[in-house]
Amino acid sequence: MSLPTAWITGAGGLIGHQLIQSAPQFAPGWRIRPITRDVVDLCNFAAVEGLFREETPRLIIHCAAMSRVGDCESNPGLAELTNVRATAHLSCLGADIPFVFFSSDLVFDGAKGGYLETDAVNPLNVYADTKVRAEVEVLRNPLHTVVRTSLNAGVSPTGNRSFTEDMRRAWERGQTLSLFTDEFRNPIHVKMTARAVWALVLKNQPGLYHLAGREEMSRWEIGQLLAQRWSPMEARMLATSLRDYQGPRRSPDTSVRSAKLQAILDFPLLGLREWLAANPHEPV
Ligand SMILES: NC(=O)c1ccc[n+]([C@@H]2O[C@H](COP(=O)([O-])OP(=O)(O)OC[C@H]3O[C@@H](n4cnc5c(N)ncnc54)[C@H](OP(=O)(O)O)[C@@H]3O)[C@@H](O)[C@H]2O)c1
Repeated sequence: MSLPTAWITGAGGLIGHQLIQSAPQFAPGWRIRPITRDVVDLCNFAAVEGLFREETPRLIIHCAAMSRVGDCESNPGLAELTNVRATAHLSCLGADIPFVFFSSDLVFDGAKGGYLETDAVNPLNVYADTKVRAEVEVLRNPLHTVVRTSLNAGVSPTGNRSFTEDMRRAWERGQTLSLFTDEFRNPIHVKMTARAVWALVLKNQPGLYHLAGREEMSRWEIGQLLAQRWSPMEARMLATSLRDYQGPRRSPDTSVRSAKLQAILDFPLLGLREWLAANPHEPV
């Protein structure tokens, strides 16, 4: 008997790639179909619809996005098309099947931290705004799921997608990184994220979930952690404060609680520090 097909969009990116790599272990009941830009441009709605009718996937995990905040600020029209309209289009095509959309902790303004799924959103930049609007489109359908994740560490196929890859490359070039001591997130390793998403898919409990490491860390603390891991590389860091920062608005504390998702998982959502300690030889 042939297996049902699962589309993974953004298959060449950090999270999509990891979902594909981990599928044989965590989702052996699915035939995985990686959807990269080479397969189809998700903004070409006619082409996407044609492929959908041809392949009739029974699950879509939608990781494709304009995922860099700066790119979205400089091209808000393309951010809207990619992050909102292409998501809404895929969600409509997949109206009768499970659909998982990746959103971000940056939907919050970061004024209070410790956010739950029931807290009000207040996006401060174009990227976050497109995520909020895409969430609304996706959650119109009670079969569909939104997963808000935080900073994902790990290795991407192109070597330039994750924040850890960005930091490492900057240090390798001899750059000094200014890291905020008072901006907080819940970093998570991408392998943890992929495992949790597959578990959520197999549980078939749609809705809105936070998916982040259980430890809240400042940018500075994250830098310290990675510098230990990458020793003896010279990690140049400058501790800075948001109070002295001048630039586009930033969310100071977008720490999120993932208790809703944790309650349906049978393994802990490790924070980045714990994950690295448990996996001392894994690349990050
Ligand atoms: N990684 C994180 O720390 C993090 C944190 C919070 C939320 N998220 C969200 O999680 C999702 C996955 O993140 P990620 O880090 O895996 O992103 P990523 O590494 O940037 O990958 C996104 C992928 O989407 C593809 N893509 C973009 N536009 C496309 C289009 N029109 N047609 C087809 N493919 C297209 C990109 O292809 P090209 O390279 O050709 O553009 C890229 O391979 C995103 O929605 C992101 O916003 C990620």
